[in-house]
Amino acid sequence: IRVDWDAVTAEKGGFAHFMLKEIHEQPRAYRDTMLGRIDESGRKVVIPGLNLTDEKIRSINNIHIVACGTAYNAGLVGGTAIEQLVRIPVMNDVASEYRYRSPLITPDTLVIVVSQSGETADTLAALREAHANGAHVLAITNVVGSSIARDADDVIATLAGPEIAVASTKAYTSQLIAFYLLGLYMAQVRGTQSEDEVARIIAAMQSLPEQVESMLSHSDAVKAYAEHIANHEHLFFIGRGLDYSVVQEGSLKLKEISYIHSEAYAAGELKHGTLALIEEGIPVIALATQESVLEKTVSNIKEVKARGGEVMAITHEEHVPGLLKSVDKALAIPKTLSLLTPALSVVPLQLLAYYAALARGNDVDKPRNLAKSVTVE
Ligand code: G6P
Repeated sequence: IRVDWDAVTAEKGGFAHFMLKEIHEQPRAYRDTMLGRIDESGRKVVIPGLNLTDEKIRSINNIHIVACGTAYNAGLVGGTAIEQLVRIPVMNDVASEYRYRSPLITPDTLVIVVSQSGETADTLAALREAHANGAHVLAITNVVGSSIARDADDVIATLAGPEIAVASTKAYTSQLIAFYLLGLYMAQVRGTQSEDEVARIIAAMQSLPEQVESMLSHSDAVKAYAEHIANHEHLFFIGRGLDYSVVQEGSLKLKEISYIHSEAYAAGELKHGTLALIEEGIPVIALATQESVLEKTVSNIKEVKARGGEVMAITHEEHVPGLLKSVDKALAIPKTLSLLTPALSVVPLQLLAYYAALARGNDVDKPRNLAKSVTVE
């Protein structure tokens, strides 16, 4: 018997690439990020070591969420979650814009910076801008000893573990978990959600790891579809509400590693210009999980179909038969609360990007022109 291995192969733990390994580590990362942050009764979020006092939480009247790349996309989901749970207005911005546009920051602004590495130059500069204007800065980061973690007033660490692949996966989803925890915690302090509602959301969060595991063990359909889109040069993602936030991440992932040009559009906005690009056979991936706007998304899908677009819908099992009347393909994801769906719906999009990049023969873990951590401006 001859065994071929080297240190890198060993680190990949049997997976062909770090990215695939990290996608599969998400159930563990979800559990670790929740660990110690839900009390024994399972009905309350606790965030040990938080400097943000209850008094401060009560006085905040607006929140800015600032980050770059995938962390920015996580902030889009986080912003919606906080607005829904806590009813405080949230503004999202990319750090390279925020730092130079004299944002309106007051001492009652909570600035949340999100960074996997904790070293991104623009995000660090945004943090300093926030401090210079007297805001409390809370960092969500994966590296506790990082520059951003050191400078921030508070840190919620994501426990994704080291992320090697340039395309971020488990860090993004762990950031979502951190946002849900923070939103629930603030809701408890401000009394914006009942105790029973908080408990209901926590219970659903605790099921997420198993639900991700089940999706990961049924990834053949995504792989087959990825091999199909690998032959295309352009495609579109559409969605509404949180689905729109998630497709922005799905589109970024696909561009980063497959080099397929893709755009993520708010489904209702497509008709205001971009619909002109829909022609015979162009793939359109519709994320349709948000119950409150499902019918609206279906109307947008029909607009695309009428122009010859080839639509693949990602939705919950119960909607598959109905949607199949209007789409070419449908993929089911497990059911959770609408608010938490991003923690599940992003997984097929990560796999889609991975398998499309693989089919195109790209270097999945080290895409051209990109760096894992951008410490210069
Ligand atoms: C780089 C990486 C992206 C990442 C972004 C922000 O551009 O290639 O994957 O999302 O930086 O990084 P951060 O470490 O701040 O989350």
